[in-house]
Amino acid sequence: MNEIDKSKLPVHVAIIMDGNGRWAKKRGFPRVQGHQKGTETVREVVKASREIGIKWLTLYAFSEENWKRSDLEISALMNLLEKFLRQELKEMTEKGIRLRAIGRLHKLPASTRELLLKTIDETSGGTQMTLTLALSYGGRQEILDALRKVGTMVEKGLLRAEEIEKRHLTASLYEPEMPDPDLLIRTSGEYRISNFLLWEIAYTELYITPTLWPDFSKEEYLKAIAEFQRRERRFGAAE
Ligand code: FPP
Repeated sequence: MNEIDKSKLPVHVAIIMDGNGRWAKKRGFPRVQGHQKGTETVREVVKASREIGIKWLTLYAFSEENWKRSDLEISALMNLLEKFLRQELKEMTEKGIRLRAIGRLHKLPASTRELLLKTIDETSGGTQMTLTLALSYGGRQEILDALRKVGTMVEKGLLRAEEIEKRHLTASLYEPEMPDPDLLIRTSGEYRISNFLLWEIAYTELYITPTLWPDFSKEEYLKAIAEFQRRERRFGAAE
């Protein structure tokens, strides 16, 4: 914690939580047990983010591609998510954490979606931190959904095609208020983006660690932030 410069914190940290399956396999456990342990890491990272003073935290909890997993694994993930929402509601409202979600939420099972929307509503007054869960989320899908909204404006004659600017697309994303991530962390050592926040990460710093998500800790989180603070960000400009 001493290594962290509080005046240079990333405003928005996004995380690709990968490696739950491998964590379980290494121990001869079913994959679901990896997700269970991964949920504990989610709790720790949410708590640590709040303590450090991160204002926006976005977690890739379920991708559009994850629908291809077995029914058993999908329902286990939905159950874990529901359990997390029920258990964390009190903590979130007490600590001023506002919950949001991005993705094609209409594809979620009704019980999960209803609980999610209820939790979003009940935490909407939180001012300390915004926790965004990416659920049934795909970066290309988000851009497509945004394009459709912009297209509708053009169709209605509210905007001309040649007048379309970046801000029109940004305003049509799932969470227009969300600032672009400053830091993107990916666990389990894979060097890819996996369709996460494609529009938003144009100038985001990447931190990739071989640690599997269930083993990710507050110490390593602080290490990632300390490394972020040592980087020089130029946003494409010259020195
Ligand atoms: C990647 O591991 C992780 C996921 C697909 C889901 C992440 C979900 C959680 C951490 C738990 C539920 C979420 C919340 C917010 C409570 P993987 O299964 O792809 O791992 P592998 O690549 O090693 O197989």
